[in-house]
Formats: sequence, C-alpha cells, structure tokens
Amino acid sequence: MEVIEKGNSLRAVVQALRCSGKSIGFVPTMGALHEGHLQLLRAAAQENDITVCSIFINPIQFNNSDDYKLYPRALEQDIALLNSVACDYLFVPEVLDIYPEQSPLRFSFGELEGVMEGKHRPGHFSGVATVVSKFFNLVQPHRAYFGQKDLQQVAIVRQIVQALSFDLELVCYPTVREQDGLAMSSRNKRLDPEQRKLAVNLYKVLQLAKAQLHSKSVAEIKEEVARALQQVDQVKLEYFEIANPKTMQPVTDVLALPEVALCIAAYVGPVRLIDNLLVNLKEV
Ligand code: PAJ
Repeated sequence: MEVIEKGNSLRAVVQALRCSGKSIGFVPTMGALHEGHLQLLRAAAQENDITVCSIFINPIQFNNSDDYKLYPRALEQDIALLNSVACDYLFVPEVLDIYPEQSPLRFSFGELEGVMEGKHRPGHFSGVATVVSKFFNLVQPHRAYFGQKDLQQVAIVRQIVQALSFDLELVCYPTVREQDGLAMSSRNKRLDPEQRKLAVNLYKVLQLAKAQLHSKSVAEIKEEVARALQQVDQVKLEYFEIANPKTMQPVTDVLALPEVALCIAAYVGPVRLIDNLLVNLKEV
C-alpha cells in the first residue's frame, strides 16, 4: 500500500489510474479502524480495481473540542490493518493541507438537519459535507462506501452527491457489531471496562423498542426507552427517535410505513455513542 499525504499527489495518481481504465473504490474514515471499516474496505476491494482509504480526523465536523482532542489515533495499527485487506492507497493529509485557511463553506440540509445528529450537533453535517465533497473531488471515485451505523450521514452524503452532481455510486453496508451487540465504533476505545459493559444497553433498548413496535404507540415506546436507560449507571440518553428512513423525520404512526429507523444517541461516561436499527415492519 502506498501512503500519500498531499492532495495533489493523490489527484495525479488516481487520474492516471482512471485514464488507464481502472475503477476506483473510496472509503473515507477518521481512523482507529475496526471491523466496521474493514467490511467497507473489503467490499471496495472486491468491487473495484483500486481501493483508496482516507484517514483524516476532520476538525470542522466536531462540535465538542474534547471529542476532537480525545478522538482515538492509531495510525501504525491502521496501516497494518489496511495492508491486511489489500488497500492500494492510504490518503493521510495534514489539517493545513485540507484547510489552508478557515473553510468559508457552509452547507445546510433543511429538515434533514433539524433532527437527531443535525439538531444535537450544530455544524456537524456541514463539516462532514465539506470534507466529503473535497475528498470526492480529489479521489473522483467510481464508488464510495459508507456505513449504516451513521444512517443520517448516508442521507446527507446522498444529498450532496445529487445536489453537486458527483459522478459516483454511493454504497451503504450494514452495521457491524461486537458479540454482545454493541455497534463497533472508534469511540468505543475510549470506554473503560465498566463503561464498555454498560454500553451494550444502547443496543438492548433498540431491541426493546423493536419488540414493541406493533403493540405500543411511539410516545409509549419513547417513554419506555428513557425509563430503561435511567436505571443504567453512567448512561445518559440524548435522544431516541423512530424515524422514516427515507427522510429521517420522526414518525407518529409506525404502521403507516413499510420500514422505520430506530435511532439513539447517548453518553456512556464521557463518550457519546450513536446506534440505529432499520426495521422492516412486515418482519416483526
Ligand atoms: P468514521 O466514523 O471513521 O467512519 C467511517 C465509515 O465507517 C463511515 O461510513 C461509517 O458509517 C462506517 N462505520 C463506522 N462504524 C461502523 C460499523 N460498526 N459498521 C459499519 N460501518 C461503520 O464517518 C466518519 O468517519 C466521518 O464522518 C467521515 C465520513 C470520514 C467524514 O469525516
């Protein structure tokens, strides 16, 4: 695998590959890689001639400076993992290369941004959209890979692909979980052993909510989720929503839709985690 730090070098390499007829798969990440990322990288390697991964902890998508400072960094280990999945190029730019000056761009996504992650992390999706657009321009991939773990992020990226006419296919893969059900996340590395055990409760309450979709109202399910988490030490619920997976807007009548997304964000100790389940209502 070749490691590239400069955007211009990356652009030159991928342009030459495109001209020689190679297809390019791109997996943007913030590093501290785990099986959720590796699933995307394996898929990219299988479906394209060339795989490009980026590792860049994008400062402008963090709305909490501690979250940025304490975000896990593990470049050496990441490089070993990327070699194990036959990644061809790793792009690891410096912050100043990506943002030589403060980014003047602001993206706004209307109602998509007024709920859940958009509502609770002001500016987050503008930061994501800025960096993803820049990377799409540099890499010009045929396919770009994202995880369902960040469901609202997929909706945001879908909007920028459409609105800015990026010529690529957006590919989404399901959430990879630990054995006990906890969604894999780089931020899990910040949990102490006790918090790690407690973190599984996010998944447990999603399952609890799923089991009640046919028998209880949205308000009752929300109350039950809040009550269940109140009893768990160190876990503080930020939101639980039942959303339309197409629009991400809250649903009032669950049974009116073929599919719903159960979405949660909660603090476990100092670490903010998110998770979601897509539920096909014919199957529960
Ligand atoms: P990061 O959190 O590193 O995630 C990179 C990609 O891996 C995202 O598409 C995310 O949804 C996916 N992913 C993370 N955990 C996963 C899991 N358990 N199962 C499946 N996929 C998983 O998301 C970002 O970085 C950034 O916002 C980024 C898109 C790189 C822009 O900075």
